[in-house]
Amino acid sequence: MLIRVFENEVQAGQAAALLIGAQIVRKPDSVIGLATGSSPVTAYLELVRMCQAGVVDWSRVTTFNLDEYVGLAPDHHQSYRAFMMKNLFSKVNIRPEAIHVPNGIAANPAEECLTYERTIRAAGGVDLQLLGLGRNGHIGFNEPDTLFSTLTHVVDLTDDTIDANARFFVKRSDVPKQAISMGVGTIMQARQIIMLVTGTDKARAVSGMVQGMIDPKCQGSILQAHSNVTVLLDRAAATALNR
Ligand code: F6R
Repeated sequence: MLIRVFENEVQAGQAAALLIGAQIVRKPDSVIGLATGSSPVTAYLELVRMCQAGVVDWSRVTTFNLDEYVGLAPDHHQSYRAFMMKNLFSKVNIRPEAIHVPNGIAANPAEECLTYERTIRAAGGVDLQLLGLGRNGHIGFNEPDTLFSTLTHVVDLTDDTIDANARFFVKRSDVPKQAISMGVGTIMQARQIIMLVTGTDKARAVSGMVQGMIDPKCQGSILQAHSNVTVLLDRAAATALNR
């Protein structure tokens, strides 16, 4: 694991954008795995800037998002697809058919999970996966104690995750209780992983991920077993690291 600590979250986000941009410059038909939430917003802003400046061309890129809420239609304003459209996809020259986000309103969610896995494989697998880290150490929506071998699956969200995500909804009861998420088994197949974490509320989870034992209680800790992971932190997220 390479760990880089930046003074603030803007710098950490810009560094993530640089690494993603470099991947696309090196391999224009890259398959990129993407995350939602607060953590990647600066990175997406920077990627949009790089695209609009003609530096990074998304015309041959394929993307797979980590997750989507069950029950939210793709055009629901709180859906992760809508988040991605707003923050990235509508502002770069990606082909609409190259965008993949699990369908939260699939009639058969289990079938949707299998199809998602097959589509990732058919695209050649993920070259670079961007991740954020939950306060409870989750990656994607893989909550504590999920089997590390799990592939894309339907997840019951924990109270902690529902609390953490309530800030994006009018009221807590509006937060969906389930999501479709790539599993840790899916994430670990990515050839390169960029983990972007900022803020003091993540410091404990960062410590568990980087210097704890590999333990399903902290799903991020499995990244210690991946051969190409770069962890980008701001100072606040790094405060519990002691080496
Ligand atoms: C988002 C995702 C989650 C988030 C994590 C951190 O697609 O899969 O694992 O990355 O919950 O969320 P933020 O960045 O909002 O703190």
